[in-house]
Amino acid sequence: MSSPAEEPAEKGDFTVTPWEVEGEIDYNRLVEKFGTQPITPAILSKMKKLTGEVHPMLKLGYFFSHRDFDWVLDKKEKGEDFYLYTGRGPSGMVHMGHVMPWIFTKYLQDRFGSKLLFQITDDEKFLYGQDRTREETRRYTYENILDIIAIGFDPKKTRIIVDTKHIQHLYPLATEIAKRITFSTAKAVFGFTNSTNIGMIGFPPVQAAPCFLPSVIEGRNVPVLIPAAIDQDPYWRMTRDVADRMGYYKPAQIHSKFLPGLGMMGKMSSSKPETAIFTTDEPEVVEKKTSSSFTGGQPTVALQRQLGGNPTGCPVFWYLRYFFDTEKQSDERLLKCRSGNLLCGECKGDLAKGAVPFVTQFKKRREKARDVVAKFMYDEQPIEP
Ligand code: TYM
Repeated sequence: MSSPAEEPAEKGDFTVTPWEVEGEIDYNRLVEKFGTQPITPAILSKMKKLTGEVHPMLKLGYFFSHRDFDWVLDKKEKGEDFYLYTGRGPSGMVHMGHVMPWIFTKYLQDRFGSKLLFQITDDEKFLYGQDRTREETRRYTYENILDIIAIGFDPKKTRIIVDTKHIQHLYPLATEIAKRITFSTAKAVFGFTNSTNIGMIGFPPVQAAPCFLPSVIEGRNVPVLIPAAIDQDPYWRMTRDVADRMGYYKPAQIHSKFLPGLGMMGKMSSSKPETAIFTTDEPEVVEKKTSSSFTGGQPTVALQRQLGGNPTGCPVFWYLRYFFDTEKQSDERLLKCRSGNLLCGECKGDLAKGAVPFVTQFKKRREKARDVVAKFMYDEQPIEP
């Protein structure tokens, strides 16, 4: 897609796995490396035909890649409903990067009337690394559920599955999947080594199971679409491999980029809290984080006026583009910045102006969510077929 804000072609080394995202990511190379498909103008036209519009996250290329998204849309056009499936690993509090695919998932639920399974992989986050306790993942599970509900998903059509609580619904499918995957495949897909604990090695089928659960619930083969950032793709590669052999449709995906952190490089991450805006941050904290953000600006005002800034290397620019600016505002910001007519302080101020009210509103919805947690849980009210 051509847009004035296209990212530079020259990028260095980077790593993208479900557990580690490092370096400056070249998303075009990632499409090739992962063997996914780019989102094409034909797909955008199809969305326009079906929904009457193209969501900004699609139009601006935030969701940039897919597997079988077009197939799901074709099925829907012919009258076959699809389920949505997405998730969260409760490793900490939720930041605005996590919220991006969830906002898009809600949009899809609203537009297509889809049922949604939302998995919480508390087992994965306990098993990964050495230092997380069960108590921590239990606490974050509850906190993260409040965020998920605050997004505004339809309570009649959405169920949250917490792995350690609802494993009985996943385990039969997980064992079917696990039986069809060798250790050698798991090593190739996930990079497991001899020092990986065996809990992690056994975990991927648990994240794969909700891809087929809708077919079990509905008693017929059901298409499933997974909106998520591209880091989760290895799970789906593995799942798609076994789907045919199990007699299910391959799960479809739509992949997003990462919302950058406010530091020098890399995605927004809870492990670098000073560069992430959390949904629970106080307004002063949001202001402090935005005002001390890294930018693509020159070291002095005089140089900025003379040489212009580098918006495509600036997290504040991307944050505003994907979250708060309209496309027009963002295109203007880009040109003004490059021509030296915009100073970083103004952009940081605009980011705070967007992020403070967003977080304030979100926190209110989070508080209200406490009363309705049970309504969303898989166990307590199974999703109606
Ligand atoms: P987790 O908790 O790491 O991430 C939750 C969701 O947020 C996306 N994400 C981001 N998106 C944009 N910008 C960022 N900086 C950013 N960081 C994370 C992730 O891609 C994900 O969509 N194992 C999973 C939990 C899970 C899941 C799923 C996720 C279980 N089933 C199905 C997606 C779909 C995890 O730990 O996600």
